[in-house]
Amino acid sequence: MSSTERYQALKGMRDILPPDIYVWQSVEGAAREIFTSYGFQEVRPPVVEATGLFTRSIGENTDIVEKEMYTFQDKAGRSISLRPEGTASVVRCYVENHLHTLPSPQKFYYSGPMFRYERPQSGRFRQFYQIGVEAFGSPHPEMDAEVLSMLRHFLARLGLRSLHFQVNSIGCEDCRPVYKEALRSFFSGRVGDLCGDCGRRYDQNPLRILDCKVERCIEMRAGAPRVTDYLCGGCKTHFERLLSLLGGLGISFSVNPDMVRGLDYYTRTTFEVTSENLGAQNAVAAGGRYDRLVKEFGGPDTPAIGFAIGMERLVELLKQSAQIAAPVPEIFIAAIGERAGHEGLLLADRIRGKGLWVETGEAGSSLKSQMRRADRLSAKYVFILGDDEIDSGTVKWKRLADSAHGEAPMAAMPDLLLKGP
Ligand code: HAM
Repeated sequence: MSSTERYQALKGMRDILPPDIYVWQSVEGAAREIFTSYGFQEVRPPVVEATGLFTRSIGENTDIVEKEMYTFQDKAGRSISLRPEGTASVVRCYVENHLHTLPSPQKFYYSGPMFRYERPQSGRFRQFYQIGVEAFGSPHPEMDAEVLSMLRHFLARLGLRSLHFQVNSIGCEDCRPVYKEALRSFFSGRVGDLCGDCGRRYDQNPLRILDCKVERCIEMRAGAPRVTDYLCGGCKTHFERLLSLLGGLGISFSVNPDMVRGLDYYTRTTFEVTSENLGAQNAVAAGGRYDRLVKEFGGPDTPAIGFAIGMERLVELLKQSAQIAAPVPEIFIAAIGERAGHEGLLLADRIRGKGLWVETGEAGSSLKSQMRRADRLSAKYVFILGDDEIDSGTVKWKRLADSAHGEAPMAAMPDLLLKGP
């Protein structure tokens, strides 16, 4: 006896289907084009890595590592994890493949699925996609400005102009400890009033308290010291130079000293791009500098900076502004009878050879039902082929948008029409 079982995609994971997929593809195409024009080359690291790679770089006390990683044991008992983000993998790839021996700076982009076991909600998934970039080798704020400018250029290419760029500097290993102490003394004596998570954060990494979404913690951090007031000379100069470069590039931005990112590897510059049209999960892209990570992974001392764009959120914004139309077949070939069916297949393949989308009607079905299907597909032209047309070496054509129609030599098709009949 056979039994059937119905399966559903896992919670927080979903299929990406037409017509949405066309928006995805156009985003990916624009990313490839723009990032290439800035000298970024694609890399494709694996989706699964040793768990330690993420715990070490993202940080033991971050939400991602504490709560959100998909971690398993493989058959040999090794702990492996689905990547929750791309930076750690690209840094491993950079060190492992000795890419630091190539002329500096080395600039890479990547795209693909990331996995975080978060509570799913609008704009937040457990499998989500990022397009990210990482630039290795330049400590200069000019590189930060170039990366931000590239992000703006990319978003503008997609027609997204009214997004907010927020930047911050969270200092370096010299000045951040001083700031952390200032934060601890700000909250000291009131640690018990913070939420449980922030109670722990107070000891482990008080910066995280600034990121907490619990109402009580938000209220308690009013008037907290600001990181930008604690930057050392080097960090301050770097940040001021970046702000002036961004101004010079005409990038409108605001400085948000409360923006601490949810990953521990950052040094100095951090940034987020947000939209008012996305609800609670409003960050479309985010990134920053991580000048220590390559060295921590056993490579030479190499400063780096990058960002990642959340594809689902970007696609949502593009769908709201309805700028990308799904492609439609250029030509639908309706054939009547066996001979025409055969001829239609040859004609379709010849036209497809020119890179055009051609559909053919179902063999044996009536002209009426083939026309209905062409209509449903929104084909631009229908070619009608029957015995008479084959005998005379012609094709009847019809343009569905305005019902214009005519007849033309088969050999001249489709060029005659596409040039404009
Ligand atoms: P992140 O802020 O964790 O940074 O993620 C970047 C973007 O990915 C977010 O702004 C958001 O658009 C999207 N995203 C994150 N989590 C989810 C989710 N659960 N569902 C949907 N979208 C999500 C990073 O991942 C860093 N690796 C960025 C970076 C690159 N920093 C330096 N280089």
